[in-house]
Amino acid sequence: MSDPMRPPVSHHHPQGTSLRSGTSGPRASLRTAVVWEVLKEALDRQVKATGRESLDVLDTGGGSGKFAVPVAALGHRVTVVDPSPNALFALERRAAEAGVADRVTGVQGDVHGLFDVVERGAYDAVLCHGVLEYVDDPAEGVRNVAGALRDTGVLSLLAAGVGGAVLARALAGHFTEARHALSDPAGRWGEGDPVPRRFSAEQLTGLVQDGGLRVGSVHGVRVFADLVPGVLVDTEPGALDALIKLEAAAAEQPAFHAVATQLHVLGEKG
Ligand SMILES: C[S@@+](CC[C@H](N)C(=O)[O-])C[C@H]1O[C@@H](n2cnc3c(N)ncnc32)[C@H](O)[C@@H]1O
Repeated sequence: MSDPMRPPVSHHHPQGTSLRSGTSGPRASLRTAVVWEVLKEALDRQVKATGRESLDVLDTGGGSGKFAVPVAALGHRVTVVDPSPNALFALERRAAEAGVADRVTGVQGDVHGLFDVVERGAYDAVLCHGVLEYVDDPAEGVRNVAGALRDTGVLSLLAAGVGGAVLARALAGHFTEARHALSDPAGRWGEGDPVPRRFSAEQLTGLVQDGGLRVGSVHGVRVFADLVPGVLVDTEPGALDALIKLEAAAAEQPAFHAVATQLHVLGEKG
């Protein structure tokens, strides 16, 4: 059975590296498997609830279409709003290569000016993955993405978790940076931190509720994947699958939300 979010396994990790980097191969599947499963189930529920096979999906800050293109491959119509022309160009190419160009529309825009470029209340599902970290006002951002939903729509929100960054810095021996991230209001580990803002599960669920949505589920994403040396996964037969299953099991448990690299919240309307 082929899964668009699980590219074929490759075995080229230098010894001793963690599974954090890389955009394809096992690292990519490890990073996206939990989100993809939750999202796919949510879209299936929307199909049943609406009675429509083809949903209208908005991917805010969808970038080059890492999620948008596989969602379109399920048969849905996807609009990607992103401020970056380069990302939109890459999206167009990715959609064409996947044979879904007719179902993917790229629009240059911003979550803050979302309704300058898309219609309010017009989407069955809205994705906002890895974007809230970078926007000027996360509360306004979530209100806007929620405002794009139809009365029974669903929001898929993914953002960096503060606890995961603390743990990763500490395990890399950067103890002062880890302590900085722990007490910093934005969850940053220092001046050199490329991520402007991280969130706790409570902050994200609070934003979703303030946006007028119910919290359907919370998942911790990449609890172990960024910490495990790549060599452990490469050398042991079946280790990658076992780690993916472990990630899926831990994702559901609130205790692990506190140390996940990313947090996924499903918001439901209606
Ligand atoms: C980390 S990437 C995530 C891309 C994609 N959502 C994914 O999961 O692969 C962040 C994306 O957010 C976009 N972005 C940054 N600021 C934004 C804003 N204010 N509104 C919408 N998108 C924004 C960037 O251009 C970039 O494509």
